[in-house]
Amino acid sequence: MSDMPLLKVRSLSKFYGNRIGCHDVSFDLWPGEVLAIVGESGSGKTTLLNCLSTRLMPSTGDVQYRMRDGDYRDLFRMSEAERRVLMRTDWGFVHQNPADGLRMTVSAGANVGERLMAVGDRHYGRIRATASEWLSRVEIDTDRIDDQPRAFSGGMRQRLQIARNLVTSPRLVFMDEPTGGLDVSVQARLLDLVRGLVSDLGLSAIVVTHDLAVARLLSHRMMVMKGGHVIEHGLTDRVLDDPREPYTQLLVSSILQV
Ligand SMILES: Nc1ncnc2c1ncn2[C@@H]1O[C@H](COP(=O)(O)OP(=O)(O)O)[C@@H](O)[C@H]1O
Ligand SMILES: [Mg+2]
Repeated sequence: MSDMPLLKVRSLSKFYGNRIGCHDVSFDLWPGEVLAIVGESGSGKTTLLNCLSTRLMPSTGDVQYRMRDGDYRDLFRMSEAERRVLMRTDWGFVHQNPADGLRMTVSAGANVGERLMAVGDRHYGRIRATASEWLSRVEIDTDRIDDQPRAFSGGMRQRLQIARNLVTSPRLVFMDEPTGGLDVSVQARLLDLVRGLVSDLGLSAIVVTHDLAVARLLSHRMMVMKGGHVIEHGLTDRVLDDPREPYTQLLVSSILQV
């Protein structure tokens, strides 16, 4: 891990009219670190993730991102064009519903290849070879390369979405309930796969989940949200094994249905 945070989040708030989306969130994310954001439905997880990934404009606060050249840039003072470049090159975003992150009517190979073309690769043979390699990395049979994702199962679609996001070697990946829509048996396999890839590639990631087992398996640190506020934040094992806040204790003891 480098000695400088990748992301510095300070007093980030988002209000929808007078309703709180998230309020006064501050933290640092380190290179190679996976942070889980947990909490019940409506606690502000998606709002926070969307602000961090600049898909949503926060009401107040700022987020500094350490660029590849080592300089920090304020994400909300960048131009729209600069943000788009970041999203295409440095970042990935894995949606809960794979259909939101894939193009359902172009081939699996094109879904992955498109991202390579977006970062300037123009060599058809190489793009196809890399796409094929990534399909096998996410355990999709390479003879499905010309099939469209609408012909795939939910688990395969999600694995394809992950390949599409990781093929360009991003430094930071945002995930919103990546296993949310899947059967339990499919979830376990996907989690294993994501965990392996994140650690092999040394990725930093921010993973939103209402499932504490997902946080346990994937994250180094976690933040617990309630009503838009971060009420507890610490190393994942510490928070889950020795929760300090009564609300986290309830979450962990599964008394609350989230
Ligand atoms: N587009 C929106 N307009 C108004 N209120 C919203 C909007 N999106 C979310 N909210 C509200 O913000 C709060 C946090 O929601 P959200 O971030 O979706 O939580 P979570 O992802 O934890 O379920 C909730 O009270 C929700 O109703
Ligand atoms: Mg959500």
